[in-house]
Amino acid sequence: MKKSITLCLSLLCLCVGTAMAEVNIIPKPTSVVEREGAFLLKDGLTIGYNDASLAPAATYLQEILSRETGLNFKIGKKGKIQLSLSPTLSQGEGDVSEDYELESDKKGVRIYAHSYRGIINGIATLRQLLNKVKSEKLKVKNNSNHFSLPCVSIKDSPNFHWRGLMLDPVRHFFSVEETKRLLDEMALYKLNKFHWHLSDNEGFRMEVKAYPELTGDTMAWRRFNYHDRQCLERASKENNPTMLIPWKFFKEVPGFGELYGGYYTQDEIRDVVQYAAVRGIDVIPEIDMPGHNGSACWCYRWLSCTQDGREPLCLGRQTTIDFAEKVYDEVFKLFPYEYVSIGGDEVNRRRWSECEACKKRIQDEGLKDVSELQAWFTKKMEKYFNAHGRRILGWDEILEGGLSKTATVHWWRGDHPDVAQKSTAMGNEVVLCPFTFLYFDYAQDDNTLRHIYDGDIVPTDLTPEQLKLIKGMQANIWCERIPTEARMEWMVFPRALALAEKAWTPRSEQNWDDFLPRLKAHLKRLDAMGIQYRPLQTKRP
Ligand code: ACM
Ligand code: ZN
Repeated sequence: MKKSITLCLSLLCLCVGTAMAEVNIIPKPTSVVEREGAFLLKDGLTIGYNDASLAPAATYLQEILSRETGLNFKIGKKGKIQLSLSPTLSQGEGDVSEDYELESDKKGVRIYAHSYRGIINGIATLRQLLNKVKSEKLKVKNNSNHFSLPCVSIKDSPNFHWRGLMLDPVRHFFSVEETKRLLDEMALYKLNKFHWHLSDNEGFRMEVKAYPELTGDTMAWRRFNYHDRQCLERASKENNPTMLIPWKFFKEVPGFGELYGGYYTQDEIRDVVQYAAVRGIDVIPEIDMPGHNGSACWCYRWLSCTQDGREPLCLGRQTTIDFAEKVYDEVFKLFPYEYVSIGGDEVNRRRWSECEACKKRIQDEGLKDVSELQAWFTKKMEKYFNAHGRRILGWDEILEGGLSKTATVHWWRGDHPDVAQKSTAMGNEVVLCPFTFLYFDYAQDDNTLRHIYDGDIVPTDLTPEQLKLIKGMQANIWCERIPTEARMEWMVFPRALALAEKAWTPRSEQNWDDFLPRLKAHLKRLDAMGIQYRPLQTKRP
């Protein structure tokens, strides 16, 4: 999990204990009171915590501070840096689980919260308050006086509890280490939902014990497809190594030569879920059904209507339902969170109208058409999810053909502006990710960041009752044209910082002129972390 930290000298250096520190927190907190002075971080300092459940948070903070300062920190019950679950913390309205307060003075730093999640949010703020980050590359001398936290009082509470990123490791694969780095970066900006798109036409990325062939050598690996070739063309035309397909994901498969791909074993998935949990991040898995699963249909031809290996799943056959239930059984065991996504987008339903088994299902179940057939499947799966204590999520196509009230909708089709209106009017929760703002794989220009920041991502035509059903927002990183971590960073940063503020800070407090200077300070931090973000301006003025 080490990444070379590449720059530091220019990072927010201030004269400790004299001037007022510059405080640049993203997302913008509810209230910040700055005072003169700073708390010096010294070798051997103790990080304390008042409840056994906070032990992983203390270890996490120890790791961050050691990495970012090069100093050693101890862990104990009482410390100069103290993490405390506090029942006396002020109670706001609604869900206060993520609220926190941070107090720092010359003697130390104290973070108070109602829950582990709140403490983690306070740690993200503490991390951003650190006046600078150690540079490994420049081998800055380990002078403890150089590391300090300004004296502040911060009270903070998120506007939305769903602040996410979706990653697609199917179109191009990302290793466990790369995934963990993204989780670390999310945690720094209080993004708390990692939606993991684990299956699609181009491959199945989750080991399923009941169906091991799904991740076999010629299933999870492939010859170059159209998008791989496009990436390589761009790499060559633009002399851009971030568009090259990484060698580390090639494998010699007897009889097939070098193939590209990969998958996550169940042990690796458990490791990622645990890593995310320490950072206060839920991992929301997606196994896309009944469309976007050409890899499964190709592997098990009996899943497709004409047994020819083409998607979507044939919904007329019981064998398909058995397959879906067995796959989700393993998903439920690996991912402990409430929400599991069934996907449900862009289904080629026409295939069903030509399939005898599907036509019979439509007749037997008294359904009107193929849209209702998809809705029948979604509702059947929803019951199965609910019986396992889970809630179902799906892309907004799951609305078509009718939806039960307990399903949650990902509004992605920005050209269907009535989705949030319709879903919430029916009583369904919505997570906002319209491609018009939040598809981070879409090309960017110098205006993109401001377009996101100033945009009304939350529709303005909802009643207060409907607004309560907006769970939050997330950006999606589809990876057809993102073959490397470096390219991903270019596409995601600094857009992710705008997303973080859109999701955390109330709309009335969002102000571009206030955000921009804080963002510029953060770009130096991203430099120090070695993140290859897109500069704010790529053209000469
Ligand atoms: C999607 O972009 N097909 C959800
Ligand atoms: Zn069929």
